[in-house]
Formats: sequence, C-alpha cells, structure tokens
Amino acid sequence: MSYSIAIDGPAGAGKSTIAKKVSKQLNYIYVDTGAMYRAMALYLIHSQVDPQDTEAIAGACQYADISIEYRDGEQVVLLNGENVNAHLRTEEVGNMASVVSAVPEVRTKLVELQQALAKKADVVMDGRDIGTVVLPGADVKVYLTASSRTRAQRRFLELQQKGVEADLDQIEKDIIERDYRDMNREHSPLRQAEDAVLVDSSDMTIDEVVERIIGLWREGCGCR
Ligand code: DC
Repeated sequence: MSYSIAIDGPAGAGKSTIAKKVSKQLNYIYVDTGAMYRAMALYLIHSQVDPQDTEAIAGACQYADISIEYRDGEQVVLLNGENVNAHLRTEEVGNMASVVSAVPEVRTKLVELQQALAKKADVVMDGRDIGTVVLPGADVKVYLTASSRTRAQRRFLELQQKGVEADLDQIEKDIIERDYRDMNREHSPLRQAEDAVLVDSSDMTIDEVVERIIGLWREGCGCR
C-alpha cells in the first residue's frame, strides 16, 4: 500500500515549496495538482473555448489528454503528448485555470488521474481539495495557510526580485478575491478537512513548516 500526504490551502501559502521539500526528504513523489488544472486551461485557451461557456468547457475537456511524468525528479506535465511545463505559470493561464477548475467535468477527469498516481506511488500532493475529495484517506493531511498580508508580501518580494514593479495593496486585494472564489465555488470548494492539521506559516520559516509536516508523518504513518 502506498502512503500519501495531502497539503491543501489558499494561493501563496507556500504549498509547492513545502511539498517539494517534504517529498525530497521522504523520497516520495511530488504531485502538483494545480499544474494539471493549468494544463487543462492551456488546452482550452489554444482551442479558443469561451471561458464563460461552461458547456463548451465540459465538452472540450474530454479531448485534452493530460498525463504526468517525472524527469530528473521534476514533474513534467504532458498535454496531448507534449511537455507544457514552460507555458503553465503565466497570468493568462492562471486566470483560465481558476475558471475551468470550477467545471465538474474537468474536476472529475483530473481527480481520477490524481487518484491513480497516488495508488501507484508514495506521494506528497498539493492542491485545494486533496484532503477532502481526492485522497480522503491520506495518511497526513495539512491545511497550510498564512495571513493575506504575509502571502501578499511574499509575492511582492518574488516580483521585486524579478525586477517587476508591483503594488502590495493590490496584490493583497487580488489574493483576498481569489480566496473568496476558491472557497465559495459550488464544486469542491477550498476548505480544511475535518481531520486536517492547520498550519499557519505566517510566522514560520520554510524549514520549520517542513519539520512540522515530517513530524506529523512520523506520528502518523511512520509507526505503521
Ligand atoms: O495552485 P495553482 O495556482 O497552480 O492552481 C491553479 C488553479 O487551479 C487555481 O485557481 C485553483 C485550481 N485548483 C483546484 O481547483 N484544485 C486543485 N486541487 C488544484 C488547483
């Protein structure tokens, strides 16, 4: 039987950084489910599907063959056989992902893929609905969050380092809006699973959060 660690939480809480480090320490596979929603969004953008047309999205998503491979320990997302990693992190794709991830047909398709991956291997999987829907039986469930201000500051620093001008208040406003959308959508909204451990990273370093999760893993499945 394979082991699984589910990490859910709002955008900017540090899920992917933390999940990657935990997966390295435990030698588990890291599964970034947001990248799958982004790949689906990319497909729908290329297919010129109207983001407002839910029926068209539901129909078109059946033709997107999304799969995951690991090359040198990195997750590679294949869209109809092509590596699309380099195209997933743009604002346009992120916005489309936020829209298409609310469509049930898209979720059903990607959740099946995520569940199949977790059956085959030990995984650290991050997303919005991993502990609640995708892997309700996960060995460790963490709901990782941080205040909207802290998350905005982290994003602001990231942009500054890239030399991109940014407005901290505007970033925080966008974060609050996105949280609202993710938490209030009809299908699989972002929420803390009843048995998930809340970790607020506002005043924690990355390593402290990683240690906390490894500690939970030791208490939980480490003794099995
Ligand atoms: O974590 P991210 O920014 O890469 O996610 C992209 C979008 O996909 C975001 O709007 C939330 C959505 N998503 C989701 O609905 N369920 C998941 N398990 C992962 C991401």
